[in-house]
Amino acid sequence: MATLDYAQTMSTAMRARGLTQCAVADAHRLPFLSFSFDGAWADRTVQHLANPYAAIKEIIRVVRPGGRVVLADPDYDTQVLDIADQGLARRVLRFRADALLRNGTLAHQHAGLLAAHGLVDITVEPRTLLVRNPTAVDNVLGLRSWAATAAQRGTLDPTEARAFEDQFDDAVTARRFTYAVTFFLTAATVNGNATTR
Ligand SMILES: C[S@@+](CC[C@H](N)C(=O)[O-])C[C@H]1O[C@@H](n2cnc3c(N)ncnc32)[C@H](O)[C@@H]1O
Repeated sequence: MATLDYAQTMSTAMRARGLTQCAVADAHRLPFLSFSFDGAWADRTVQHLANPYAAIKEIIRVVRPGGRVVLADPDYDTQVLDIADQGLARRVLRFRADALLRNGTLAHQHAGLLAAHGLVDITVEPRTLLVRNPTAVDNVLGLRSWAATAAQRGTLDPTEARAFEDQFDDAVTARRFTYAVTFFLTAATVNGNATTR
């Protein structure tokens, strides 16, 4: 099995787990021959890429006909957060979806993208991450800081950012804190006649 990431730290971590083929490279230009793999998996990576369409085409290129491609990403259009001001919550979650990630709302379109490339046997599995304890998952992806970042970028008034943090803390104290986002795990089989070949 081979892994790839453009961060050297990830390659080092993979080697520490016993993997030997750990490439440090850009997902838009995979350093692999066409048809080299029985399958390929992009785990929470497409959301960050400058050109997700080109990268998906590259992933398909390196998988042999009959092999499986899997894309797994959160779709931040699916977020909910229980704080007192739901209008404010929606604005901050919208900022997260649109401004803090390059492709934060693309995951529900992965199936369509793979279909457009001629892949077949497409399945989509939704998995919802539900967080009741905000310190349990890396302080929920830094969620408490999203409003302050929005204020720094001029998207939110600083008083609203403070209100968000206060309401976030109130929700934790009242044990009502609830955040959820759904991940889409999309799998498809490479057809020998795929359009990207
Ligand atoms: C959320 S992490 C997921 C890491 C890993 N796939 C895993 O499952 O643990 C996103 C990863 O995407 C990598 N990444 C972002 N842009 C990239 C690119 N253009 N080429 C390769 N890797 C990239 C980052 O370095 C980061 O490690």
